[in-house]
Amino acid sequence: MLRLESVTAGYTDENIIHEVTLEVEEGEIVSIIGPNGSGKSTLMKSVFGLTRMRGGRIRFQGQDVTGKRPDELVRLGLAYVPQERNVFSSLTVKENLEMGGVSLAGEMEERLEGVLELFPRLAERLGQRAGTLSGGEQKMLAVGRAMVTRPSLLMLDEPSAALSPKVMGQLFAEIEEINRRGVTILMVEQNARRALAISDRGYILEMGRNRFQGPAKSLLDNPEVCSLYLGRR
Ligand SMILES: Nc1ncnc2c1ncn2[C@@H]1O[C@H](COP(=O)(O)OP(=O)(O)O)[C@@H](O)[C@H]1O
Ligand SMILES: [Mg+2]
Repeated sequence: MLRLESVTAGYTDENIIHEVTLEVEEGEIVSIIGPNGSGKSTLMKSVFGLTRMRGGRIRFQGQDVTGKRPDELVRLGLAYVPQERNVFSSLTVKENLEMGGVSLAGEMEERLEGVLELFPRLAERLGQRAGTLSGGEQKMLAVGRAMVTRPSLLMLDEPSAALSPKVMGQLFAEIEEINRRGVTILMVEQNARRALAISDRGYILEMGRNRFQGPAKSLLDNPEVCSLYLGRR
């Protein structure tokens, strides 16, 4: 579904991502993990057309999308939830969801219905300002807003950041449910063990380069990966 071939990218003259190769098959959950500052967010932004590509190619559903703009990628079925500031706090829940569907074809009401069925908690809070939601509900809203575009591939940058363990568990369960409904997932996660536990495969980035990759279970069982990147059990 998605293939990065030797992608090199950055924001200024300096490259942050160096010849990174990555693949996501249809139906998978794939996690990208690695130390702070290793370029995980930059890699995700590069897929979504938000950095300067210096080399390599990106293919999405068989099409070369290297250099395409975010709005073009959304129409092709790619959605991206950034790590931070991913809801408009002064807008209501409903307005936030509608923003996700702006300029897309199809009935807004139908688009919202599908998302509200997935997140009944948001349905109860449609008229509430997003800034007054709990942290977990705001994350849910950010994911819901992306789901309004009916993506085939959903990219999530640190969905569990700043959530309590209990809320984090709920969010991971929701991500699994979205995946069961046929949406392929690529996520960046600090909570590497939890993320790999629900993933099919994982990639470990270090200093903007591929370091390890493989089935999630083999990464969890790899002593070197554990001691370097997964911390204590
Ligand atoms: N918008 C930006 N402009 C310039 N440099 C950035 C920007 N965002 C991140 N960086 C730099 O890119 C490097 C990788 O950051 P990032 O991709 O956010 O890492 P991670 O998500 O793995 O923590 C860091 O050195 C960071 O300072
Ligand atoms: Mg990041």
